[in-house]
Amino acid sequence: MKRTLLACMVFVLAAMQTPLTAQPATIVLNADITTDTISRHIYGHFSEHLGHCIYGGIWVGENSPIPNTRGIRNDVVAALKRLQIPNLRWPGGCFADEYHWMDGIGPRENRPKMINTHWGGVVEDNSFGTHEFLDLCEQLGTEPYICGNLGSGSVEEMSKWVEYITFDGKSPMADLRKQNGREKPWNVKFWGVGNENWGCGGNMTAEFYADQYKRYATYARNYGNNRLYRIAGGPSSGDYHWTETLMKNVPLNLMNGLSLHHYTITHNWTYKGSATQFTEDEYFNTIKSTLVMDEFVTRHSTVMNQYDPQKKVGLIVDEWGTWFDVEPGTNPGFLFQQNTMRDALVAGINLNIFNTHADRVKIANIAQMVNVLQAILFTEGEKMVLTPTYYVFEMYKVHMDAALIPVTFKSPEYVLNGKSVPAVSASASRDKLGKVHITLTNADPHKEIELNLELRAYKPAGVSGMVLTAKELSQHNTFDNPEVVKSVPFKNFKLNKETVSVKLPAASVVMMEL
Ligand code: AHR
Repeated sequence: MKRTLLACMVFVLAAMQTPLTAQPATIVLNADITTDTISRHIYGHFSEHLGHCIYGGIWVGENSPIPNTRGIRNDVVAALKRLQIPNLRWPGGCFADEYHWMDGIGPRENRPKMINTHWGGVVEDNSFGTHEFLDLCEQLGTEPYICGNLGSGSVEEMSKWVEYITFDGKSPMADLRKQNGREKPWNVKFWGVGNENWGCGGNMTAEFYADQYKRYATYARNYGNNRLYRIAGGPSSGDYHWTETLMKNVPLNLMNGLSLHHYTITHNWTYKGSATQFTEDEYFNTIKSTLVMDEFVTRHSTVMNQYDPQKKVGLIVDEWGTWFDVEPGTNPGFLFQQNTMRDALVAGINLNIFNTHADRVKIANIAQMVNVLQAILFTEGEKMVLTPTYYVFEMYKVHMDAALIPVTFKSPEYVLNGKSVPAVSASASRDKLGKVHITLTNADPHKEIELNLELRAYKPAGVSGMVLTAKELSQHNTFDNPEVVKSVPFKNFKLNKETVSVKLPAASVVMMEL
C-alpha cells in the first residue's frame, strides 16, 4: 500500500491541534475488592540469538573496550536492573529449535560455529551459551526462562541440558558442568518445550506436537529442590484448536504453562509498514491489532477453563509486541525497527490487558529486549538509548506482585473514518504496602480525555503520577537525541475527597499512585 506524504502531514497537524475534550468517564476503584495477584512475571523479557540482540546488545566479550563484566555490557545490565526484570527468555524463538546447547559450553575458542539460518544466515560462533546466559541472569537478579529444542533436537539432548544445569551431585552432566567451571547447579524453573512448533519449530500439527510434548516433558526432570515449570509451545493468535488439543491430551501434571504468541501487525505479514512513518489510518490499525489481544486471552482462557477449571495451567504470552518493516538499509533478517510513542501505547495497552487477566496470564515476554522488534533498549557500539517502551515498563513495574483491583468502565471511543475503538485502557492494583496504582492509556491522538476516579474504601494520603506522551506519535529517541520521549511527573489531576479527576493527554500512557 502506498502512503502519501500528504496523509502523513495531515495526521501530524491534526495531532498537534489544541486538544478537544470528550465526555468524562468514571472509573470506580473498590480498593478493598482485590482479586488475583498480578504475577511479576508478566513483566518478563525475551532475548534471542537474532540480529544484535545478544551479540552487540548484551554480549561484547571480555576483551571489548565497551565496559563489561565477564563479557556482558554494564550499561545494559544497569538499565535493566532499574526495571527489576523478573524473567528472561532465551535462546529463542525460532532459534531455540535449531540450538544445540552442547555447542555453547566449554572453552569459547573450541566451540563449533553454526549458521543462524532463521536470522540473516550469519555465523553463530556460540560464544554466548548456557554459562554466559545464566551469568547474565545472575547479574540482573532475574529468573532464567530457557526454551529447549524440540523441533530438531532429541529427548536425550533436552533431558541432559536440564541435568547439566540443575543436578547437584555426581552425574555425567553435572561433572561436565563442574569441569566447565561451575561447581554448584543453577536453579532454573521456567522451561519451554519447543517454540512455535506449528511453524518454525517443526511445522507440526497440534496432535503430533501434543504427543511429542509428553515425551520431552517427561524426561525434563526435577533434580534436588529444583522444580521445573514446564511450558508447552502454544498457539498463535486465534488458533483455539491448538489450545484445545494440548489441554485435552496432555496431563495437567506435565504442563504448568501453555504459551501464546500474538504480534501487533499494522497490515499483514508481507507488508508491515514503517515503524516511524505512518498515517493515522495505519496508527488506528496498530491499536486495533493490539486490542484484539484481549479477545485472544479471553477465548484461550475459556478453552483452558473447560479442562482446567482450577486454573493450574498458566497462559504464557511469551512473545508479544509490534512488528514493523525493518529500518531501511538494515539486514532484513535482523528485525531492527525504531520505537515511537505508538509503540509505547501498544505496550501500555497490552500490559493492562495482561494485568486484567491475572487469573490466567502468569508470564509474558515482550519481543525483544535489545535491538530487535519492540525493543526497550538500542545499542550501537558503546552507545545505548532507552526507547519509549522502556519507560512504560518503568512506570508499570508498580503492578508486579500486587493485588489486582478489577476496573470496569465504559471508555470513550476513538473514532476514525467511521471506525472506532475504545480510547482508554486501564488496570489497577494494590501493592504490599497498601498503595493503590492505576495505569491508563489514551490512544486517541486528538482528544484529551477527562476521567473521574472514584475511590471506594480508600482515602489516599496524596496523589502523584508519571506520564509519557509526545507531540507526535512518530516521535522517538535516537543516539543523538536520546530524550525526546521520556516519562515526566504527571500533574494533570485534582483530588476532591473520594474522587480524583484526571485529564489524560491525547496519545499518552499514565501511571498514578494514590
Ligand atoms: O521474535 C521473533 C520471532 O517471532 C521468534 O523467533 C518466533 O518465535 C516468532 O515467530
